[in-house]
Amino acid sequence: MSKPDTYRSVLDSDFCIRELLQDDLPDVLDIERQGYSHPWPETVFRDCFRDNYRLWSAFHGDALVGYAVVAYMFDEAHLLNLCVHPHSRGQGTARMLLRHTLAEASREQIWQVILEVRISNAVANGLYTSEGFIEIGRRPQYYPCANGKEDARVMALRFGH
Ligand SMILES: CC(C)(COP(=O)(O)OP(=O)(O)OC[C@H]1O[C@@H](n2cnc3c(N)ncnc32)[C@H](O)[C@@H]1OP(=O)(O)O)[C@@H](O)C(=O)NCCC(=O)NCCS
Repeated sequence: MSKPDTYRSVLDSDFCIRELLQDDLPDVLDIERQGYSHPWPETVFRDCFRDNYRLWSAFHGDALVGYAVVAYMFDEAHLLNLCVHPHSRGQGTARMLLRHTLAEASREQIWQVILEVRISNAVANGLYTSEGFIEIGRRPQYYPCANGKEDARVMALRFGH
């Protein structure tokens, strides 16, 4: 799929991004369980509804199709979760959520956004790199996986202000 078609599929639909609410959690948990081998439990999501967290949700019409969770620590933000429903992937949803997350962080005077991503997660690595993130380190054996443990790539994006 070419890039213009990808974005047409997001922009032509009734796509929107808004704050994630606690009432959205049943849909979030459904997507989370389909997105990860080791999904966050509900208690972890509930613990993210704090002043220094930002939680964003993406909708196609009435359907919640993706979400992002970010923790702010002073002037740094940590992207903790970004996930899109399997049926809605490849349409630009994650890129739009990421751009929204970054724009909001920049607006709130955050100077750097960091994240960890599995080395094997080619789609997420490609997305983050194409949005300007660079690798700043590795966390060895960070993630559980089928064969034991897997390294995390630590990535950062710094704003100009
Ligand atoms: C990673 C994830 C969020 C991407 O969501 P998505 O909405 O499908 O992503 P987008 O459609 O915005 O695509 C963004 C980029 O990812 C890459 N990408 C998307 N689908 C891809 C595929 N099937 N193969 C290779 N690259 C792909 C492309 O670089 C794409 O950009 P492009 O369309 O301009 O070429 C989604 O696959 C997901 O939820 N995975 C499970 C959870 C996860 O791994 N989250 C990341 C944790 S760090």
